[in-house]
Amino acid sequence: MEPIKVGLLGLGTVGSGTFKVLNRNQEEIRRRAGRGIEITRIAVRNVARARAIAGNAVEVGNDPFALVDDPALDIIVETVGGTGLARELVLRALRNGKHVVTANKALLALHGTEIFEAASASGVMVAFEAAVAGGIPIIKALREGLTANRIEWIAGIINGTTNFILSEMRERGVDFATALADAQRLGYAEADPTFDIEGVDAAHKVTIMSAIAFGVPMQFEHAYIEGISGLHAVDIKYAEELGYRIKLLGIARRAEQGIELRVHPTLIPSKRLLANVEGAMNAVLVHGDAVGATLYYGKGAGAEPTASAVVADLVDVTRLHTADPEHRVPHLAFQPDSLSSTPILPITEVHSGYYLRLRVADVTGVLADITKILAQGGISIDALLQKESHTVNQQGRPDGETDIILITHVTVEKNINAAITQIEALSTVVSTVVKLRMEALS
Ligand code: HSE
Repeated sequence: MEPIKVGLLGLGTVGSGTFKVLNRNQEEIRRRAGRGIEITRIAVRNVARARAIAGNAVEVGNDPFALVDDPALDIIVETVGGTGLARELVLRALRNGKHVVTANKALLALHGTEIFEAASASGVMVAFEAAVAGGIPIIKALREGLTANRIEWIAGIINGTTNFILSEMRERGVDFATALADAQRLGYAEADPTFDIEGVDAAHKVTIMSAIAFGVPMQFEHAYIEGISGLHAVDIKYAEELGYRIKLLGIARRAEQGIELRVHPTLIPSKRLLANVEGAMNAVLVHGDAVGATLYYGKGAGAEPTASAVVADLVDVTRLHTADPEHRVPHLAFQPDSLSSTPILPITEVHSGYYLRLRVADVTGVLADITKILAQGGISIDALLQKESHTVNQQGRPDGETDIILITHVTVEKNINAAITQIEALSTVVSTVVKLRMEALS
């Protein structure tokens, strides 16, 4: 049988990795897919550079629209990135009746509904394994391997840059700015690392996972997003003393009133496997009602790990493209007419344990005042750490201040916020309260 013909949009890290893996493993891939898979056309900005990588057997040009309009191509691989040009190209390819493989999490998190509708209207597939956690086959696991389960929750370390920074801060005791500079020097962080450090990249990914896990539309606009740029090294140290590590988690959880969809720095018990995922690695913990907890670990970025997922999608599309569209695996795991309207909860309705760090005047009664406010708010304390007062003022004299660290049992966020407002109004509390969320993951 003739090889299936693929057009590649972009030949950066993901595009060139895909080209390389597909060529290196072409014989194995052909035996798995049932026919060859060939990249026959590439559209890039820098044609000379692309020719040097792809050789003369591939048609290389700089018009991406001409590529998506090419009737000879069956599948388009989009590695352009962003949500402007990439959206236009993907929608045009789908309307032209071509299958699309993409690693573009922002595109799907923001425009997934429009893209899947366009794909269904044309009877074609959109495959996006590489969009979440790079080389880890988490989409396949959620959509197919765990399909018997009612998924209860997902908690993932799904941004390698921030995990690297947090590992550096904990292991070397450095502050956020130093760890970020290290990440940039070593090539983990982008020149503009905003999407990574502010949690946006992780929110794109957890939005995609929540849709597949719970059968709801993509709702990035309702995700709660808090990054790690405001995190202090002292809180990583105190957390460790209390038996916890701080990770930037993407969390999607089925709650009584709706779905929790959130990204924020999170204390997790140090003995959990997820707490021991270090450096730029990714890991996703999924809890299903039948299977219990399952954990997926691997590289979340990089040329070949991401290509591993893109090529897997190419094989899937090659195997399934002749199947009746009604009998393919649905894009979001659930049939499009069976998506649920369960709401995404606002962060104030989320249930969590909390870590609170308070800077207080070390005077009689300060602890009693604080615990009274928490008790009146129905908030139960799980652990408490008070440091000896040893800090000094600008004149070098003891300042009579100390840190109190409180860990609470699970409560609703609006109650903890109300308690913090009252605590900050106490004359003995000398700075704003640091609040971090905690997950037992049990
Ligand atoms: N920038 C991402 C990360 C990889 O640091 O994990 C691509 O999503």
